[in-house]
Amino acid sequence: MQSIPFIDLQTQRKRLGPRLERAIAAAVEGGQWIMGPQVRALEEQLAQYAGVKHAIACANGTDALLIILKAWGIGPGDAVFVPGFTFAASAEVVALVGATPVFVDVLEDTYNIAPASLSAAIAMVKREGQLRPRVVMPVDLFGQAADYAALEDIVAREKLLMLCDTAQAFGATLDGRQTAAIGDAAATSFFPAKPLGCYGDGGCSFTNDDGLADLLRSIRIHGQGRDKYENVRIGVNSRLDTIQAAILIEKLKILPDELEARERIARRYSEKLVRSNRIRVPHVIDGARSTWAQYTIQLPDRDRVKDELAAEGIPAQIYYLTPLSAQRGYAHYPSVPLPVSEVLGATVLSLPMHPYLDEATQDRIVDAVLKSVSRS
Ligand SMILES: Cc1ncc(COP(=O)(O)O)c(C=O)c1O
Repeated sequence: MQSIPFIDLQTQRKRLGPRLERAIAAAVEGGQWIMGPQVRALEEQLAQYAGVKHAIACANGTDALLIILKAWGIGPGDAVFVPGFTFAASAEVVALVGATPVFVDVLEDTYNIAPASLSAAIAMVKREGQLRPRVVMPVDLFGQAADYAALEDIVAREKLLMLCDTAQAFGATLDGRQTAAIGDAAATSFFPAKPLGCYGDGGCSFTNDDGLADLLRSIRIHGQGRDKYENVRIGVNSRLDTIQAAILIEKLKILPDELEARERIARRYSEKLVRSNRIRVPHVIDGARSTWAQYTIQLPDRDRVKDELAAEGIPAQIYYLTPLSAQRGYAHYPSVPLPVSEVLGATVLSLPMHPYLDEATQDRIVDAVLKSVSRS
């Protein structure tokens, strides 16, 4: 039986065809291969799309997070609250600036940071008195905005900064606001598999704060001042390639249409999968629009179902098997109890999801999942 791709980037490439090739050729011919004019143009378009004053492109999403923490001067003795159920980069950047990631549990229905667990983690840090609470880093996991209404209250009450890790969710909205425009700053990734991805690594930070934007622009290029040979602070080397910006400009044009397609597919998946009372389909909170970076269900007997799907040529992935607080590199950092993150590690399964998944293929996937689950 023919194998289905988990994410099909080739169909998108064919759709963009000569436009993409012309854009790449122009970037090559232009001769400014790093941070060329296409990078500035992309930044303007991203800022406009997201409804935020500044978009500052850089080499990848991890650096986008890192540069923001550096710009805020987060370092030793500072606590940054991070969900335990996320990709490692969210906590890694905290450790890289010398601060301490404090792990917080997530909500079972949305996979996003749980406000009550966040409050408990802040109280724990204050009680222990070893660290200064400084930043909350919600992650818009699998493409859906975190519960920002509740989080903004906590952040304001506790006088913390909020950095939205929207690596998986550029284009997602909550009550009409783009996630890239929420918080004191936000960061996204253009890793190829992301809903807006390039053909290599790329990332971007976002903020409405003019002073912060100046710092982010400086830090991404070795702490530059008026030019790259005036170095006014310690920075990093995190520039975006011009070719990647040229590719992203073309892909941004079709992003709204692709997000519509993802929404249609997710709805169709859910309508059909919900027929089994053994499957928990993704829950989208009121007012939220997901980018559906992943379509992730919960089910008992997950590993068997995954193997049976693989035998039928249907790839399914586990994001994330082990909470970060239980990973070897992170186990020594503080954490409140993470019962939900632990359960999710054993039950989640992400199904193939991309805008070009036709109905026949969706049905093949759904039928295989329902058949396998019914054997449990
Ligand atoms: C939640 C989350 N944060 C951060 C990142 C880091 O992005 P990048 O791979 O572009 O460094 C990713 C991407 O993989 C991610 O999924």
